[in-house]
Amino acid sequence: MKKLKPEEDAFGQEIWACYKGEEASEVVERDDGYFNASLGPRLYFLEYEDWNPIERKAMEFVKRRILDIGCGAGRHSLYLQNKGFDVLGIDSSPLAIKVCKLRGLKKARVMPIEELNFKPDSFDTLIMMGSNFGLFGSFEKARRLLKKLHKMTSRNGLIIASTRDTYKTDIADHLEYHKRNREKGRMAGQLRVRIRFRKCVGRWFDYLIVSKKEMEEILKGTGWKIREIIDSGNSAYIAVIQKTQ
Ligand SMILES: C[S@@+](CC[C@H](N)C(=O)[O-])C[C@H]1O[C@@H](n2cnc3c(N)ncnc32)[C@H](O)[C@@H]1O
Repeated sequence: MKKLKPEEDAFGQEIWACYKGEEASEVVERDDGYFNASLGPRLYFLEYEDWNPIERKAMEFVKRRILDIGCGAGRHSLYLQNKGFDVLGIDSSPLAIKVCKLRGLKKARVMPIEELNFKPDSFDTLIMMGSNFGLFGSFEKARRLLKKLHKMTSRNGLIIASTRDTYKTDIADHLEYHKRNREKGRMAGQLRVRIRFRKCVGRWFDYLIVSKKEMEEILKGTGWKIREIIDSGNSAYIAVIQKTQ
């Protein structure tokens, strides 16, 4: 994966603007023309007290050496670092990593999930927060990466990953998109999206949102299984994933 140029680093640009105290929202454009604007970057700076309760609950499962995949502005990494954990935050966005460092994260590195490169048994817990199970991208890519994550983690390693149940929606545009995806042989919640911020337009990428059943299917044969689901009562949930062997 080629390093992101500043004009392609839309996630980073919005995080940087927010860090400087400027007005910043996040626009996600889907490849069927559907746009969604959110508070995005502001949410990436929330303090522990203001997180979704399921994220606070998820932090109770973390152990020892932690890798925060797609760490954004570093809210989870910084919280865990302050609790005394050994944390490394990685993100494909150079600007996001710059912000993490400026905010005091001691270990932060530009590294896309596609290029994870760590020795066996380097981490005890991998966290993928803010719907970052999505970074697995597709059924096949998820399985490939999960096998790699298996090697990088200790015997009792965990993945704590947040996502949204694709099917908990009645928005016609989304239901139509699911159908279109299935017709193309893609998973219903395999969203082809790009981030826009001001004049900056990010690259297209696949972001995967899955039901619990689909997550179980993805995990089969990768050496991982769901240990526990932390449910929000709406579409968002966090899976605590452990090793099968
Ligand atoms: C939705 S934000 C979540 C940020 C953070 N985990 C949180 O919950 O506040 C997604 C983050 O993943 C990063 N990202 C996107 N694609 C990535 C990739 N291929 N590898 C690593 N990080 C990626 C983005 O730059 C962004 O910081």
